Amino acid sequence: MASSTLICETQPWKDLKSHVEDIKKTHLRELLSDTDRCKSMMVDFDGITLDYSRQRATPGTMDKLYNLAETAHLKEKINRMFNGERINSTENRSVLHVALRAPRDAVMKSDGKNVVPDVWNVLDKIKDFSERVRNGSWVGATGKALTDVISVGIGGSFLGPLFVHTALQTDPEASKCATGRQLRFLANVDPIDVARNIAGLKPETTLVLVVSKTFTTAETMLNARTLRAWISKELGPSAVAKHMVAISTNLTLVEKFGIDPNNAFAFWDWVGGRYSVCSAVGVLPLSLQYGFTVVEKYVTSLKNLPVLLGILSVWNVSFFGYPASAILPYSQALEKFAPHIQQVSMESNGKGVSIDGKPLPFETGEIDFGEPGTNGQHSFYQLIHQGRVVPCDFIGIVKSQQPVYLEGEVVNNHDELMSNFFAQPDALAYGKTPEELLKENVLQHLVPHKTFSGNRPSLSLLLPSLDAYKIGQLLAIYEHRVAVQGFIWGINSFDQWGVELGKSLATQVRKQLHASRVKGESAEGFNFSTTTMLTKYLKESFDVPANPPTILPRI
Ligand code: F6P
Repeated sequence: MASSTLICETQPWKDLKSHVEDIKKTHLRELLSDTDRCKSMMVDFDGITLDYSRQRATPGTMDKLYNLAETAHLKEKINRMFNGERINSTENRSVLHVALRAPRDAVMKSDGKNVVPDVWNVLDKIKDFSERVRNGSWVGATGKALTDVISVGIGGSFLGPLFVHTALQTDPEASKCATGRQLRFLANVDPIDVARNIAGLKPETTLVLVVSKTFTTAETMLNARTLRAWISKELGPSAVAKHMVAISTNLTLVEKFGIDPNNAFAFWDWVGGRYSVCSAVGVLPLSLQYGFTVVEKYVTSLKNLPVLLGILSVWNVSFFGYPASAILPYSQALEKFAPHIQQVSMESNGKGVSIDGKPLPFETGEIDFGEPGTNGQHSFYQLIHQGRVVPCDFIGIVKSQQPVYLEGEVVNNHDELMSNFFAQPDALAYGKTPEELLKENVLQHLVPHKTFSGNRPSLSLLLPSLDAYKIGQLLAIYEHRVAVQGFIWGINSFDQWGVELGKSLATQVRKQLHASRVKGESAEGFNFSTTTMLTKYLKESFDVPANPPTILPRI
């Protein structure tokens, strides 16, 4: 395939377009009755089992999808990524977050330079710093140990670390290591989020991490200035050196902000924000909370399964036309997994042009959402069962982090949860026919309401347990899956120009709010709708002081 040819113009794409029409004629009930087919759709990898037999696909479909992947030069693109080529062409950057998981002696080059030693220098620095904070040899301005950490950051500088923190919180080994410590995340620029974060904390025992790749993100910088004021107000401006550190690629702005560059933890342009959880962005806050030894385990590598997941997603999005995809972990510890993958996937693959800038005549990306089972079952599963078709990823764990056994119960609590994990994919796939309902003596007028069409695809991932290493595996599978999708669609999964327009319009509004509050100027230069809303907002908040002193939340 010539590099400028769109994937939808190739023969394998056209073959799949006609093949999907055949598959549409076959119900999943029929596909699931073929045991050989099902056997071929179960894969074990590094302790994880993937069952994709409930996809609307046959072994023939898989061959065709692999053919498509080959035509899209998937292997070469993966190699180019691992070789540090500048595949993020619109930002002229290489995409080497995979180097964050490389062993110390590996060689991975960007612009001819092995980046692995740099990665390990920062990891060593994190190990040293986090151990000093945890053992009380790095103390705050009043000599007290820093037991609480607020990590200030948004998007990729927040969601990944929050996901891993939430998953480790209930792991027995990790939670033991976190005794007496707190880790909180301040992301939203809403002052309510500031209030919630500082509630119950004292500046003298708090360490603030300012996490921003660019160190220019408006929300993060205002929140960082707010916490700087919170510390300075109580302990004096010189306390900032002991109570604030930074994680960034922009060490010049870190210094300008007033943080000693020696207290900054670097990462690099070749790590996209949403792929940065294995850099200092995730490793520093998590090491402070759980200790470096625990956290190191999640920074591990994984191959293989992502290709399968990626091509299946292309199949569902581009050939069946399913616009959404649900991530449904049957583990409360994974409650922040879907929100993290939502950014990784939607910011990466929600694009309208090919990597060469050609408009795409097909949709890319998918709408990702999800909740832990069984909460989701009591919320949006109705639509998934009888309304729209949403391919689902069910994620189950064999051994609970926190087992509960109650005397006299039919099953233990984790088995109860897992009963749902095993039941839901079959309910979606098989459904329930009117004939079956009539046999059960369901009243005639209720039959249409109680019928389930079935034929709704899903896949199941079963993990043996959920420790730091497995959490890292899961993360790597989904990060790579997103890259595979983008490589096949022929887009740039590593830029995010779509977030810029809103940011620049907000700058215009910010200027207006300042001019209106300070000089009483009326809203100008906006359309009718925005002018009307802005005017109402300003009018109804006329009592906001124009040049206020610092006022911080008091809850
Ligand atoms: O939402 C846009 C974005 O640029 C994300 O890609 C990124 O993760 C987030 O903002 C935060 O950026 P930074 O780490 O530079 O503050």
